[in-house]
Parts: sequence; structure tokens; C-alpha cells
Amino acid sequence: MKITDIKGTVRLSNGVQMPYFGLGVFRTAEGNDTINSIHWALEAGYRHIDTASMYMNEKSVGEAIRSSNVPREQIFITTKVWNSDQGFQKTIDAFNASLDKLKMDYIDLYLIHWPVKNKYIETWEALEELYQKKRVRSIGVSNFLEHHLISLVERKGLVPMVNQVEFHPYLIQPNLLTYCQSRNIQFEAWSPLIKGQVNDIELIKEIGQKYGKTPVQVVLRWDLQKGVITIPKSIHKERIISNATIFDFELSSEDIQAIDTLDKNYRLGAHPDTFDF
Ligand SMILES: NC(=O)c1ccc[n+]([C@@H]2O[C@H](COP(=O)([O-])OP(=O)(O)OC[C@H]3O[C@@H](n4cnc5c(N)ncnc54)[C@H](OP(=O)(O)O)[C@@H]3O)[C@@H](O)[C@H]2O)c1
Repeated sequence: MKITDIKGTVRLSNGVQMPYFGLGVFRTAEGNDTINSIHWALEAGYRHIDTASMYMNEKSVGEAIRSSNVPREQIFITTKVWNSDQGFQKTIDAFNASLDKLKMDYIDLYLIHWPVKNKYIETWEALEELYQKKRVRSIGVSNFLEHHLISLVERKGLVPMVNQVEFHPYLIQPNLLTYCQSRNIQFEAWSPLIKGQVNDIELIKEIGQKYGKTPVQVVLRWDLQKGVITIPKSIHKERIISNATIFDFELSSEDIQAIDTLDKNYRLGAHPDTFDF
């Protein structure tokens, strides 16, 4: 990944350019919180918003983008099909419902939110159809482990262009990362800040002091230097700006390796093989 500035992109396997830095809006309330945080992010240069039907804020995401002064086509929008909407026709219906709420005529990236057993292959077939009909510019998955990805790769249809998973210094999943890189499946981090906990990690604080950066900035830069797309969430203007101030320094390979040693397979979220929602 060549890191330039906040608007920099990575080229997905189908040629689509995806900004490697974006704003997440999980648990950002519909209404002013979503609208304001997206406006502040766009002003700060963000060009990528990550939502989901489950976040219940797609209406406000659409409204924020329409009322901003950045044209829709310059913003990369991800949304996701929720677990109870999986299956072929239900996924097509859920996609249409998301578009209606966003008041958009296409999505940049549509993801399967979680690999629902006995459903996700059918759901993937629906995503392939949406892609072939050009209703979505790229398709991918979220919370997929290697065995889930292999079951899609073996079908000989489309291979997911992105896998969005929990990823931070306490959960690196190096084998999954290597597998995705070998198949040209772009890795994307959710909860990159461990919901703010990175600020309390001593080693990361020490590294930050060397560069004059906060632990949050160090970790977001570490994501990008590892080739991982990152989408930190905040509803505060000053944090939205400071989280994106990571394009004026570069971590040394020693510091990247030092952060890698913090991995302890710690998950905030559910395990993709045992989730029950
Ligand atoms: N695919 C999935 O299953 C999945 C699951 C979870 C998340 N996601 C996506 O990934 C995005 C990011 O993950 P996340 O929202 O769970 O967690 P996160 O980005 O790791 O952390 C967000 C939390 O950290 C706080 N924060 C943000 N900037 C901060 C700063 N500079 N200093 C201190 N605290 C800070 C935020 O508080 P304030 O808002 O109060 O600033 C919020 O509580 C989500 O919004 C969503 O788009 C996807």
C-alpha cells in the first residue's frame, strides 16, 4: 500500500480505488450525531464512510452526504447486509432497502456482515448478482475466517474483494492476514482503536512520544503501514481531525514489529464461528 494522504486509495482486485482511511459510524446515533460527524470528517478530508443496515443510521448517512459540499461520487460508501436478512432474495431486498434509506442509486462496497452458517453462500450469490448488474461497485465480506473464505474461493465464482475484521494490536490474526493478501482480498480493520483502549497501552504511548503522536495516531498509522484499511469511529470533531493526522510521519519497521508483539488474540466482538446473533 503506498500511503500518501488522507484521500489516498488502494486498488481492489477488480480495479476499484478504495480510500484506505475512513470514518466508521457504528453506535453513532441517527440524526445530528451522524450528520455532524460525517460533515466534520468530509471537511477534514475523509472520503470513505462505513455504515451497515444494523447501525440504523443509513438515512442520516445519506442526508449528511447530500447536504455536504462533496459530490456523492467522490465518497466511498460501504454498507452491509445484516444476519437476519441473509439468503438470496432477502439479501436483494435488504440491499434495495439500504439504497432507499441512503437515497442513493449505487453503493461502493456491499459486505456480508457475518458468515451466517448455511446462509452465507446464498447471500454471496446475491452479492454477485448485484455486482453483475452494476448496482454495487465492489463486494466483500466481514468477520470471515480462512475456512469461510476458502468455501467461497472454491466455488469458482467471484472472490471477495475485501474482508473487514476486528483488527488491532491485541488481535492481529497474522495467518488470516497472510491468506487474504495471497488471494488479493483487501484486509480492513474494525475497532482499530479497541474502542479507545489503545490510549492505555504503555508500549504504544512510548512509541508515540518518539514521533510526537498520540497512541491512537500510532495505531492508525500502523494499520496503514501493515497494508490494512482503517475506519476509526468518533462523534467528536477534534478527535475526527486528530485521528486523521497520521500522514506526516512514518513508523520504523522496528516499531511496527514491537506493536506486533502485543497480539494476544483478544477479541472485543464475537468469534465468527460461535456468534449467535
Ligand atoms: N463489520 C463489523 O462487524 C464491525 C464491527 C464493529 C465495528 N465496525 C466498523 O468499524 C468502525 C470502527 O470500530 P468501532 O466503532 O467499534 O471502534 P473504534 O473505532 O476502535 O473506537 C471507537 C471508540 O473510540 C473512541 N475514540 C475515537 N477516537 C478517539 C480518540 N482520538 N481518543 C480516544 N477515544 C477515541 C470513540 O468515542 P467517541 O465517538 O465518543 O469519540 C468510540 O467510543 C465502526 O464504527 C464500524 O463502522 C464493523
